[in-house]
Amino acid sequence: MALSDLFTNVQLLLRWVHVFAGIVWIGHLYFFNFVNIPFQGTIGPDVKRVVNPQIMSRALWWFRWGAMITFVAGLLLFTQLYMYDPVSGFGPSLAFSGEDGITGRAVWILMGMVFGTIMWFNVWFIIWPAQQKILPAVRDGVAPDPALPKRAAMASRVNTYLSGPMLFGMLAANHYGAVNFLTAVVAVALGLLAIWWSYKSAPQVGKSV
Ligand code: HEM
Repeated sequence: MALSDLFTNVQLLLRWVHVFAGIVWIGHLYFFNFVNIPFQGTIGPDVKRVVNPQIMSRALWWFRWGAMITFVAGLLLFTQLYMYDPVSGFGPSLAFSGEDGITGRAVWILMGMVFGTIMWFNVWFIIWPAQQKILPAVRDGVAPDPALPKRAAMASRVNTYLSGPMLFGMLAANHYGAVNFLTAVVAVALGLLAIWWSYKSAPQVGKSV
């Protein structure tokens, strides 16, 4: 049935694009936070001037476009699954609400989407604008305005922490469904704990790997 069913085929394609772009985005986010930040402490200003603008401008390209494609494909998926019904057309579908009000699935995905949207905003409106000023300054051997790296690093750290709970929201929507206050709190706590542990376990400056 799925082989000839347009709705299901479009949905699989959107899911694939969404998760593929999500891997590209979050993979680079983790590279920045768990690999590059400790690594930067091991190199001097001369190496930074040569290496950073090259590697960072490439990595930031994948990072920001990964974020954009994840976000757009996610909104399309949301529209198709929760705001459209093949029989009755656009409007809240049975996946979004029923006789008992909003569904558990919708609560999970809305939680994931709120976190994901904050992360997307941070990439496009805080991290990338700051990096557009930091990278040319580093290339020219000039110290950038110290507020800029601070702001970018803070937004990047916030995004890294949000990514743990965000992923629970994405996965629980379709694969768990039921929700109450306690399950949501446990999911958020586990997500945050996993990120905290990853920061703690990342080999630090001077520590051999
Ligand atoms: C940026 C904002 C985002 C929005 C608006 C969004 C939206 C969605 C929607 C609507 C679904 C379908 C849920 C369902 O089947 O009921 C979904 C699933 C999913 N999303 Fe996101 N998402 C976002 C970010 C991310 C990110 C950053 C990742 C990281 C990889 C991600 C990974 C996933 C995964 C793994 C699924 C489950 C796919 C499946 O089980 O079939 N999402 N997302």
